Amino acid sequence: MELREAIYSRRSVRAYSAEPLSRETLEELMQAAVQAPTAMNLQPWAFGVIEGVERLRAYSDRTKAYLLDNLHSLPGLEQYRELFANPDTNLFYGAPALVVIFAKPGGVAPDFDCAMAAQNLMLAARAEGLGTCWIGFFAFLLNQAEVRQELGVPEDYRPIAPIIVGHPLQPAEPVEKAAPQVIFWQE
Ligand SMILES: Cc1cc2nc3c(=O)[nH]c(=O)nc-3n(C[C@H](O)[C@H](O)[C@H](O)COP(=O)(O)O)c2cc1C
Repeated sequence: MELREAIYSRRSVRAYSAEPLSRETLEELMQAAVQAPTAMNLQPWAFGVIEGVERLRAYSDRTKAYLLDNLHSLPGLEQYRELFANPDTNLFYGAPALVVIFAKPGGVAPDFDCAMAAQNLMLAARAEGLGTCWIGFFAFLLNQAEVRQELGVPEDYRPIAPIIVGHPLQPAEPVEKAAPQVIFWQE
């Protein structure tokens, strides 16, 4: 697939088949991620991978429970109360794999760097006919000491981009993009 087509056709996929991804595919996606530019070429990232629809569903349930318990301090998420309370909600949409990009301490602009790595990963997946979706909700759980310990996340590593990957069950929902708002253009 041409780069232009991958860029223009990438949309968040929210329905997946359970078909697992090979280790090779996941490694290729992370290789694409680390081609991104980084401030001072510090490459301040690290990756975590969780495979398995059921394992991910269990993390989804824990994320929903955490968010419901803490909505009082997360007013921006109040609109999702019903979604989190619904036992049928799978925040990972049945995807078979999740790749998390963590920012390591010491970067100059680690959040930007990791976000660019995330976009590389999503476009590389799109080029392979795979679907992705950034699942920001999961970062809340990944910041909890118990979960970090379970997964072996080093202290000071911050979750930036949890991205599900898998074979789309159906084409992604179309999402209209507004034309660029240009606020200056000195010719
Ligand atoms: C930082 C960030 C967090 C996101 N978190 C979620 C999420 O938790 N769940 C979800 O379904 N989509 C999530 N998304 C996907 C956005 O909803 C999606 O990118 C947006 O609606 C535009 O659609 P598109 O990706 O198809 O262009 C997130 C995207 C970003 C960049």
